[in-house]
Amino acid sequence: MSNGDVSQGRRRFLIGATSVVGGVGVVGAAVPFVASWNPSAKAEAAGAPVTVNISKIEPGQQITVEWRGKPVWIIRRTEQMLANIEKLNEEVKDPNSEAPQQPPYIDGIYRALKPEVAVLVGLCTHLGCVPSYRPELAPEDLGEDWLGGLFCPCHGSKYDLAGRVYDAQPAPLNLEVPPYRYDDDVTLTIGLDPEAA
Ligand code: FES
Repeated sequence: MSNGDVSQGRRRFLIGATSVVGGVGVVGAAVPFVASWNPSAKAEAAGAPVTVNISKIEPGQQITVEWRGKPVWIIRRTEQMLANIEKLNEEVKDPNSEAPQQPPYIDGIYRALKPEVAVLVGLCTHLGCVPSYRPELAPEDLGEDWLGGLFCPCHGSKYDLAGRVYDAQPAPLNLEVPPYRYDDDVTLTIGLDPEAA
């Protein structure tokens, strides 16, 4: 499936959002998490890779595409957003993502192949709600220390713009980073590792 038309892909996801959230628990129960990074298990799992043209995503903008029934966010991060992520290293539970919430080729505090583009599964690691994208600084409801991030409306878990969960939140883990690769500078494929043919 190709999501060259980003807005079309988003519309499709929004239409299916209710059933997506409902189905996630079933998938999680049936497939042990560890198996999701196993190439043979991946090949057998339902759901094709999704190709996305990211050239029209403006700095600071987030889009949503669907991959394997899950919402996947792509966020074009600004220099300021990257600087704010760095400021939060002491505030988040697992700053270097030592828990296996990303493929092995993703490391560092930005949790991305290229720092300016985040790719995250948009499901809270507490009970699977879809967090809200809250890039603004110090909004009234999130407090003056808020440097932009993701906020889960279900039980209040807070994540930074790298999907790193803050300390002392209901959510136990950072948001998942799916496998993905760049086909060229403006084309991402979600669901394939960089070395995949
Ligand atoms: S599901 Fe997100 S905080 Fe509970």
